[in-house]
Amino acid sequence: MAFRVAVLASGTGTNLQAILDQLHGRDGIEVAAVASDKPEAKALERAAGAGVETGTFERGDYTDREARDTAIGDWLTQRDVDLIVLAGYMQLLSPRFVERFRSRIVNVHPALLPSFPGLDAIEQALEHGVRITGVTVHFVDEGVDSGPIILQRPVPVPPSRDLNELEDAIHATEHELLPEAVRLIAAGRVHLDDSSRVVRIDAE
Ligand code: GRF
Repeated sequence: MAFRVAVLASGTGTNLQAILDQLHGRDGIEVAAVASDKPEAKALERAAGAGVETGTFERGDYTDREARDTAIGDWLTQRDVDLIVLAGYMQLLSPRFVERFRSRIVNVHPALLPSFPGLDAIEQALEHGVRITGVTVHFVDEGVDSGPIILQRPVPVPPSRDLNELEDAIHATEHELLPEAVRLIAAGRVHLDDSSRVVRIDAE
């Protein structure tokens, strides 16, 4: 039975594309579903192009966040997904959703957490004057970008300190690191103890 991955995305979906290109239909991994809060998200087109089922859960269609997250959770459960990947999903998930899928939700963040959580992490890093930033893939908990860290990779800030140049470098790194993390989880090599926030990764 395949390891079934769901991706939630609000935007262009280049991280989704990296997962589709590098993982879908390989190593026992299947992208089983892609959901968005935005019907116009390019991520949905990319999913449909790969023959992956899509769902749209717009905020306005539900009484509140809790109700929307319940609907997304039920949809994902019906599709029997093993892992939920947040790839540019711009909505905060309710604590109940996080609890329902505890240790089965991962997020990619464009900074070396715990530095620069939240929105505009790349801009925050530039404004702070750091010389090295990077990418983090972490489990999602109830906080903002605060869950246990799975993988991190540094990205040097270019001498130009140009936002576009740094964004390109960060995105290229995301497109390697996120599929790598999903592959490790699917292979059963990523372990998180209840009593600790330190993630252990088995060597090959
Ligand atoms: C990425 O930079 C990711 O780190 C952040 O949102 C962006 C999504 O980009 N959470 P894309 O939609 O995958 O192209």
